[in-house]
Amino acid sequence: MSALTFQALRRLADGRFHSGEAMARSLGRSRATLSEALKRVPDLGIELFSVPGKGYRLAEPIEFLDLAAISKLLAAENARIRLEIVDEIDSTSTRLLERAAEGAPSGTCLAAEWQNSGRGRRGRNWVSMLGGSLTFSLLWRFERGAGHLGGLSLAVGAAVARALTECGVERVQVKWPNDVVADFRKLAGILVETSGEIQGPSVAVVGVGVNYRLGERALERIDQPVTDVAQCSPTVPSRSVLLARLLASLASALDEFERLGFAASRDAWRAMHAYQGRRVRVVPARDPAFDAEVVDVAADGTLVVSTDDGRTFNLSSAEISLRGK
Ligand code: BTN
Repeated sequence: MSALTFQALRRLADGRFHSGEAMARSLGRSRATLSEALKRVPDLGIELFSVPGKGYRLAEPIEFLDLAAISKLLAAENARIRLEIVDEIDSTSTRLLERAAEGAPSGTCLAAEWQNSGRGRRGRNWVSMLGGSLTFSLLWRFERGAGHLGGLSLAVGAAVARALTECGVERVQVKWPNDVVADFRKLAGILVETSGEIQGPSVAVVGVGVNYRLGERALERIDQPVTDVAQCSPTVPSRSVLLARLLASLASALDEFERLGFAASRDAWRAMHAYQGRRVRVVPARDPAFDAEVVDVAADGTLVVSTDDGRTFNLSSAEISLRGK
C-alpha cells in the first residue's frame, strides 16, 4: 500500500463525501495518481464508494490511532512505554523481534494501523482490517530466565481481559492458554515469543490482536467463531483509549510477573476462565484428540484436565473447544 493511500484515507476517515479533484489538489498529486492509489483500498478490508459528481466516501468512518492522545494517557500511568505507530507493516511481532535482537529497550511498543501478514499461534494467519482491529507488540525484558516464563502468556491474557472490561467491554473472559473471548467467541488473540538465557536475563515480545469492529470482508476470512469490541460494548471505547488502557494494564502485569510469576494472577485468571469445569475436546499439537473436563490451571500455567476414565493430565500445549462444537 502506498503512503498516498493512507494520506487519502485520513482525509476520507470522517465517512463523508470528498471530491477527488479537491483531494488530489490538496495532496499535491494528479487525479489519476490518487485514483490508482485508492484502487487497493479493498485489500485493507474496508469499502470505498466512488460516485461520479460527488467524489469518494468510505462505507464507515475510520478512527486512526492518535499517538499524541495515547502518549498523554500513558505518561500519566506508565512513562516507560515507548510507542511507535506505523500505517502498514507485515507483522509488528516480526519487526519487534528484530529490534529486540538489536538491543531495543524494555517497553518498546510497535502498533500498526494495518498488518499485511499478521501471525497467529500455531503458524496461523492473523486477519485484521484497517480501523477494525488493534494490532500491536510490546517488548519486555526480564531478569528471570527464559525457563521461568511459564504462565507468562496466561498473565498477559488476564491483563488484556481486564483492560477490555475496564473500557466497558462486557462478558469478557479468558480461554486457555491465552485467548480472550466473549460468549465463547474470540475477541482478542495473544502471541508471546520469548528468548534468552535459562538463568536470565530473558526477553518477551508480546503480540496482541484485538477485534475492534470487524467488517464482512474480514469475517469471510476468519475460520473460527469471533466477536468484536463493538458488539460487546454498550458505549464503544475509542481505539486510542483502548490501546492506552491495554498498554498500562500489560505494563503492570508484566512487572508483577517479573516479581511473582503467574502465581500472582492465577486466582484472577481462574475466575475469568470461560472453560473452568467444562467438558471439552482437547486437540494436542501432535497426539490424537480426546475428550476431558477442565479441572484447574496449575501454578506453571498448564491446564489440568481429567478424562472420563479418571486420568488427570497437565496440558502445556493444546487447543480446547466446547464438546460438540
Ligand atoms: C492467536 O493466534 O490467537 C494470536 C494472534 C496474535 C496476533 C497479534 S496482532 C499483533 C501481533 N503481530 C502479529 O503478527 N501477531 C500478533
